[in-house]
Amino acid sequence: MPAPLRIGDLVVDPPILQAPMAGFTNAAFRQIVREFGGSGLLATEMVNARGFVWLDENEAEHPDRLWGVADEPRPLAVQIWDNDAATMAKVGRRLVEEYRVSIVDINFGCPVRQVTEKAHSGSYLLREPQRMFEIIQRLVKACRPTPVTAKIRLGCSPENVNCNEVARVVEEAGAAALTVHGRTAKDMFRGNADWERISEIKSHLRAIPLIGNGDLDSAEKVVAAFDNYNVDGVMIARACLGRPWLFAQAAAALRGETIPPEPTLAQQRDVMLHHYRLVTQRFGEDKGTILMRKYACCYAQGKRGARHFRSHVASVSSAEEFYAIVDQHFPITDPQP
Ligand SMILES: Cc1cc2nc3c(=O)[nH]c(=O)nc-3n(C[C@H](O)[C@H](O)[C@H](O)COP(=O)(O)O)c2cc1C
Repeated sequence: MPAPLRIGDLVVDPPILQAPMAGFTNAAFRQIVREFGGSGLLATEMVNARGFVWLDENEAEHPDRLWGVADEPRPLAVQIWDNDAATMAKVGRRLVEEYRVSIVDINFGCPVRQVTEKAHSGSYLLREPQRMFEIIQRLVKACRPTPVTAKIRLGCSPENVNCNEVARVVEEAGAAALTVHGRTAKDMFRGNADWERISEIKSHLRAIPLIGNGDLDSAEKVVAAFDNYNVDGVMIARACLGRPWLFAQAAAALRGETIPPEPTLAQQRDVMLHHYRLVTQRFGEDKGTILMRKYACCYAQGKRGARHFRSHVASVSSAEEFYAIVDQHFPITDPQP
């Protein structure tokens, strides 16, 4: 069993984090993850700091992405993105004071054009470590004593890998933990995450924990990450979308216990239906059903008949239709080994 993961004063136990994922890790998804257990820290989708301030000043509602945040169980990290230290500090302070979040995480890893080229934020900032320093330092001051953490990629491109330098800057600026996705921004999701590089970063950090991220899709891989790559924690993203029970499996494996089996297909379908009810309770039938299309595809992934189910569920627009399609087409037999 790895040592407890400490982020500032917060103990993250088990040291397995649910990654922030825009468009996915909303309060309904987080509730499902929490119900299965096994993740020591959950995260919201990334929230744009300027957008937050704009809504505030215009007396509009707070961002949809903060749905649930004020009331749900802790620990919970809210991730923000932007490039203006003052705005980010202002939002960080609000998140700490008003929402009482456990952690404010900064996104320095997003490779999407709208965030990088258009807003000079996310992974774009990896080319400006000094600016990262200023942002982190300012946020740390604004959020104290709540920990501020940073999530990065290895660099902007394979020709510009600078994660070791960036790691030192992040710690120097006062961040309480560093999460690294083992690809560069230019890689997007191509190739494999480079865990050797992640591991190397450890020797560039003095005291703060290193959280490794990339391609973890089984309990065995989580155990191997701790055994082989010097990380203090791991973060799981894509693989938990259709398998929110993965955290509980990985946590059991870390404790040296038998890994709980995958739920039966009928149980998986029930999880999906429960998820659907949570989403529609919040967003109403029309919007909730549309939002659920992508989750439903995730739940079916890897199963026999998944393509068939996806082709039907991708266009549902009412609860009646959704239930009928699940009834008729959600895979009920496992793929052939
Ligand atoms: C749909 C999607 C949305 C994502 N949104 C975010 C985000 O809002 N903030 C962030 O830091 N990373 C985001 N990521 C990246 C993941 O957090 C993670 O770093 C990446 O997917 C690698 O982990 P994995 O191999 O376990 O998926 C997103 C990834 C996906 C697939």
